Amino acid sequence: MTERVVLAFSGGLDTSVAIPFLAEKMNAEVIAVAVDLGQGGEDMKAIRERALDCGAVESVVVDAREEFAADFCVPALQANALYMDRYPLLSSLSRPLIVKHLVTAAKQLGGTIVSHGCTGKGNDQVRFEAGLAALAPELKVVAPARDFAWTRDKAIEYAERRGLPIETTKKNPFSIDQNLWGRAIETGFLEDIWNAPSEDVYAYTADPAVPREPDEVVITFERGVPVKLDGRPLTPYEIIDELNRRAGAHGVGRIDMVEDRLVGIKSREVYEAPGAITLITAHLELESVTVERDLARFKRGVDQRWSELVYDGLWYSPLKRGLDALIADAQRYVSGDIRMTLHGGRATVTGRRSEQSLYDFSLATYDTGDSFDQSLAKGFVQLFSLPSKIAAARDAKQG
Ligand code: ARG
Repeated sequence: MTERVVLAFSGGLDTSVAIPFLAEKMNAEVIAVAVDLGQGGEDMKAIRERALDCGAVESVVVDAREEFAADFCVPALQANALYMDRYPLLSSLSRPLIVKHLVTAAKQLGGTIVSHGCTGKGNDQVRFEAGLAALAPELKVVAPARDFAWTRDKAIEYAERRGLPIETTKKNPFSIDQNLWGRAIETGFLEDIWNAPSEDVYAYTADPAVPREPDEVVITFERGVPVKLDGRPLTPYEIIDELNRRAGAHGVGRIDMVEDRLVGIKSREVYEAPGAITLITAHLELESVTVERDLARFKRGVDQRWSELVYDGLWYSPLKRGLDALIADAQRYVSGDIRMTLHGGRATVTGRRSEQSLYDFSLATYDTGDSFDQSLAKGFVQLFSLPSKIAAARDAKQG
């Protein structure tokens, strides 16, 4: 029986060429699976058709937008997930969900091999294959770009020779990955890390330097999940999508960084993630108001480790699952409203309000109405400083 390859299909040049190539090379039938993660751009029906035109025996389109928002973006938000303190993990979050749908398609349609378009130099190959190892270790993997040393030029040449229905003329100089949580732009002139990104690199955000009237938004959270914008109940998908537009219109969430890839390379990355950055800023603020000090301090380390695990492709790993439990528990009281101004490339918190607030006006105030007993502080500070005092005395004795 001919084997069936389930291919993660984006509709772009590389994965389109991969269809006839895999069919020939592996002597197999190719099933294309395209997953809608809110990337926008081309119509998913057109993408589905293209796979068939390139020779796929089946072409599946999965609308995973709400699932991606609720089960991947929201957990990342609750972890305030920023790899290297800056990158909101948009590509890292999408791969484990794509893997899940590849596995489902393989089980339903009799696939025994899974294929993706990643090269051997990036993180995404790791995320695909580490995810597969956890969810369906019995499936084999083939990555044409990596395993058969495909280059872009080779792909274009192959597509032209085969008369494949893909537009190779409009040549995008960048490697782009985008979804609901943001957009990643790599390669081209950005590989010289002294070169500033030009305006045309960006698609989710407007130039923050252009003068315009600020926008104000109130984000409501319930137990760490965003549930309303300006008092209107919405799904997580709708909230992220609307904030992408509103914060994007003010240039919020542009990031230009040199990043440590898992494979050991440092690479220049430009991101734009207006909704993600706005929501993380709001969520961090609400945690500051509602999470007890020691839990909050400990959680910062957990958040960082969670981000590294997810970056490294270990979404379906035991440690990640354990950290999920702590993060979820910490969201118990993260409910309330955060008011923000969107302007000049920044989402700035201007107000916070919560029934679960630990902020106590009578303890914090320097005006009348102060209930904090300052006489207790004197003894506390002496005992708190005692270990330093004793150690300093020894240091003095040692000379
Ligand atoms: N460097 C980022 C990451 O590893 C973005 C990767 C974008 N992927 C792409 N195929 N352009 O998560």
